[in-house]
Amino acid sequence: IPGHLEVRDDHLFICGVDTVKLADEYGTPLYVTSEDRLRDNYRRFAEAFKGAHIFFAAKSNNSIVVQRILAQEGAGADAFSGGEVYLARLAGIPPQKILFTGNSKSDEELEFAVNSGVMISIDSHDELMALSRIADGLGKEVRVAFRVNPDISANAHPKLATGLKTSKFGIPRQEIVDIYKKAKGLPGVKPVGIHCHIGSQILEVDPYVEAVNRMMDLVGQICDFINLEFVDIGGGFGIPYQKGVRAPTPRDWADAIIPAFKDRCAQLGISPELHLEPGRYIVADTTVLLTRVNTVKKAYANFIGVDAGFNTLIRPAMYDAYHEVVVANRAGEENMGTYTVAGPVCESGDILARDRRLPAVRKGDVIALLDAGAYGYCMSSQYVGRPRCAEVLVHHGHAELIRKRETYDDLLHNQLIPGRLL
Ligand code: LLP
Repeated sequence: IPGHLEVRDDHLFICGVDTVKLADEYGTPLYVTSEDRLRDNYRRFAEAFKGAHIFFAAKSNNSIVVQRILAQEGAGADAFSGGEVYLARLAGIPPQKILFTGNSKSDEELEFAVNSGVMISIDSHDELMALSRIADGLGKEVRVAFRVNPDISANAHPKLATGLKTSKFGIPRQEIVDIYKKAKGLPGVKPVGIHCHIGSQILEVDPYVEAVNRMMDLVGQICDFINLEFVDIGGGFGIPYQKGVRAPTPRDWADAIIPAFKDRCAQLGISPELHLEPGRYIVADTTVLLTRVNTVKKAYANFIGVDAGFNTLIRPAMYDAYHEVVVANRAGEENMGTYTVAGPVCESGDILARDRRLPAVRKGDVIALLDAGAYGYCMSSQYVGRPRCAEVLVHHGHAELIRKRETYDDLLHNQLIPGRLL
């Protein structure tokens, strides 16, 4: 259990706050985020990569409060949609520190981004032409990068690998130099950077070193005719979801990445900035998901039926992801049995955790799923008529509601009934 989580009087505490009390007070399911841990994570990462620029991957957590805190810490944002550009701006991240990424942006999104004054990472030739036309039409010049498909296998879950040549992301390496040449002659766009992202939940440093080398090979060809101000190597820094798994620390990554980057820059006689886009590393372990036990049933397995399912946290169902389970109101008790934690959704895939050794669980207990701060709430849905849950922020032993629980009325939100059906 990381430092911001501790067991006191048999209860799980986060940042000095009793999670069992939070579940009673705010109801369940409930995402609880530690502001202190969030700031610590950011600072630890930024400190290790001193001199580099950090663009928080906004897709990993869409809470405006989380982004506001990171904005205060000095983070920029990697925004993957017009909506994420909008939220990052509202959170107080300056436009010059926002990179609008995305493999399929609409003309409307491009226009919105141009008007917002953010940088754009271009993913295709079509997008380059559209952006040039749109920006020029608005009388603006946008600072752009191109997303490279670096053709690297980062040993991630197949659904999380993005840098393979078979992936939908980025422009093939072989075409990159030509597209920079082309962009140089076009109005409305000013190429200033180069971008890649090799995958997510990566637990080794080597793929990053390889990515730096591949990117710098390209930079070497491009810097003859364009002054590149930054090299963005994306995010993907993994965390140890499971006890016993070893994950590199930010220092480990930095010690491998920075010298490789600096060496190549020195060889070329250039000094671009290094940009990074961590999402998961910054937010994942800041948050626990609390869920109440509705039933305990002995069948094929000991099924614990809880009130959170893949509508609340989709990661186990979608990526076979592992989240540590703690019985929050029995956190000090001995393990007595093997349980499978099942959600309330009408699908057999709706399992949050399989075959876990836990204390004797009873109806009414509160289960905590750890490391739920990345790709948690933001991937939740109303599937099977369940309003989305609430979010709480804890800070120095104090809790505040930062997202209200939806109600049944919200299930009707934006639905329209034609008069003839009334
Ligand atoms: N930059 C780009 C361009 C990305 O597409 C992503 C994540 C990141 C940065 C941040 O990656 P991170 O540091 O968070 O690994 N929903 C999945 C993860 C999808 C990642 C998508 N792209 C999950 O729950 O594991």
